Amino acid sequence: MNPTCKKRLGAIRLETMKVVAQEEIAPAIFELVLEGEMVEAMRAGQFLHLRVPDDAHLLRRPISISSIDKVKKQCHLIYRIEGAGTAIFSTLSQGDTLDVMGPQGNGFDLSNLDNQSQVLLVGGGIGVPPLLEVAKELHARGVKVVTVLGFANKDAVILETELAQYGQVFVTTDDGSYGIKGNVSVVIKDLDNQFDAVYSCGAPGMMKYINQTFYNHPRAYLSLESRMACGMGACYACVLKVSESETVSQRVCEDGPVFRTGRVVL
Ligand SMILES: Cc1cc2nc3c(=O)[nH]c(=O)nc-3n(C[C@H](O)[C@H](O)[C@H](O)COP(=O)(O)OP(=O)(O)OC[C@H]3O[C@@H](n4cnc5c(N)ncnc54)[C@H](O)[C@@H]3O)c2cc1C
Ligand code: FES
Repeated sequence: MNPTCKKRLGAIRLETMKVVAQEEIAPAIFELVLEGEMVEAMRAGQFLHLRVPDDAHLLRRPISISSIDKVKKQCHLIYRIEGAGTAIFSTLSQGDTLDVMGPQGNGFDLSNLDNQSQVLLVGGGIGVPPLLEVAKELHARGVKVVTVLGFANKDAVILETELAQYGQVFVTTDDGSYGIKGNVSVVIKDLDNQFDAVYSCGAPGMMKYINQTFYNHPRAYLSLESRMACGMGACYACVLKVSESETVSQRVCEDGPVFRTGRVVL
């Protein structure tokens, strides 16, 4: 085992990863490139639980894996500064290290899709990053990828060019300052394609819309967020109720963060 892997918790590892690069790609939105052995185990839609390199902040912060390069043993994360933890992450630079737990959670199911398939990706704001790896992997298999992205305004637009390498991309902004005015529903309601799978990640309102619109679709997936503590299934800080059950719950960190539509109460 690599000496930087201090211990393994089932499939979850703890590793001191190297910061390869960090860049501000939009106002208050950063792309962080990390390198380490853990990359070999990463899958699209999983997240990393990052220790804030400051002893005043005990809880790790969950951030989705945006793209994976197994050859270089590097992964990219894209995050927005929300509070103290992400502000501290934004000060990291090349050569620094980060204490990482992961790869955690059940990612997106990309199985049984080929060059006869077409999929829809729907991303909103800082929920767009995990869809990049989905687009990259499916495009490499010949799957037709259509992406609809929604942002608050022009300043918040990220990853449009990167996703356009893998298929058609529609961009909406709430205020109409870029792309089509409105939210993603303006585009999705007019798409008449039959999609073999739908992958989505975004704000709660967008997830509710996708959940309702594709409620009975056999392969429509939502990547959900919640406040987290342990990030490994033990504390139940991150639970969501299962649809049609008063008592059964699902942990976003361990059972998710990806759920099929119609499975949890949003
Ligand atoms: C599975 C998962 C994947 C995520 N992936 C990404 C990602 O790829 N990029 C990204 O920018 N963010 C992502 N997040 C959200 C990210 O974890 C929070 O923004 C971060 O933890 C905030 O930490 P902080 O110390 O900066 O802010 P804090 O000081 O802890 O909080 C600042 C504000 O952010 C809110 N907040 C904190 N954590 C969350 C959360 N988990 N969900 C919603 N609101 C929160 C707080 O309520 C508060 O209003 C993800 C969250 C989850 C659960
Ligand atoms: S954060 Fe502890 S169970 Fe999910």
